[in-house]
Amino acid sequence: MKTFTTIKEFLRFRKTIISKKLSLVPTMGDIHDGHKSLIDIAKKKSDLVVVSLFVNPIQFTSIDEYNSYPDTLKRDKDILVKQGVDILFCPNKKEIFPQEFNTSIVINKFISILEGSFRPGHMEGVATIVTKLFNITNPDLAIFGEKDFQQLTLIKSLCKDLNFPIKIISSKTVRDSNGLALSSRNNFLSREEKFQAHEIYKALMYGYEQIIKGEKVAENIVNLIKTRLDNFDLIKVEYVSIRNPKTFEELKIISEDFIILIAAFVGKTRLIDNIKYVEKL
Ligand code: PAF
Repeated sequence: MKTFTTIKEFLRFRKTIISKKLSLVPTMGDIHDGHKSLIDIAKKKSDLVVVSLFVNPIQFTSIDEYNSYPDTLKRDKDILVKQGVDILFCPNKKEIFPQEFNTSIVINKFISILEGSFRPGHMEGVATIVTKLFNITNPDLAIFGEKDFQQLTLIKSLCKDLNFPIKIISSKTVRDSNGLALSSRNNFLSREEKFQAHEIYKALMYGYEQIIKGEKVAENIVNLIKTRLDNFDLIKVEYVSIRNPKTFEELKIISEDFIILIAAFVGKTRLIDNIKYVEKL
């Protein structure tokens, strides 16, 4: 695996592989099976896979949250080699965001809803780093997980609006055997918290089943899910929202494709997840 820690070195190398189809898997490290599934897709669809590993300070909502993000570079490198990754791009913070850095990418529709409203600045932070990574690595494809569905939708919108000639590919959420969506944050959960965290996906499934059985009023489904999760003392729901997965518009009556999105604290750890129904792909 070729490893680049500076933009200059990476750009020099990039010129030598222009004839190759390159895919980008952006990560913040702490590589788990969810990332591995993104890498597997990237390998199938391109000649070369670049994984970027950068813990992006501007997408965290507090300095404590940023500082507590695990630094697992050595372990991650070993996993990425085993996974058959060709290139690792792991720049340092000062080079990506020098003191004079003064730009922010704002995707209007996403900054004030769900993740955007509960985590001020987060969506802009993601859009800004992803734009930078696209400009530096210049990939043909980029792969993102469906767990962060609002992020995925935002990135598709960003590519369209800013004319990035990059195909965005989404990858299904990877879950543990009890349905908990894999996330670096799961490492923060105690045994009991993890036990209760499994209820999040169960509640989503329950809501999904009620819609399939005929309940079409979104508010009723939202309330059913919230009420179910109220039984678990360590879970505090931030939002449950039912939207059209293509337009991301909130649905009042569910008569079409839908996605149920949730964010909840389990103890001090904030988790997000979703479940979706799409009739025609
Ligand atoms: O999903 C993530 O890990 C991050 O939000 C991303 C896309 C790597 C940007 O920092």
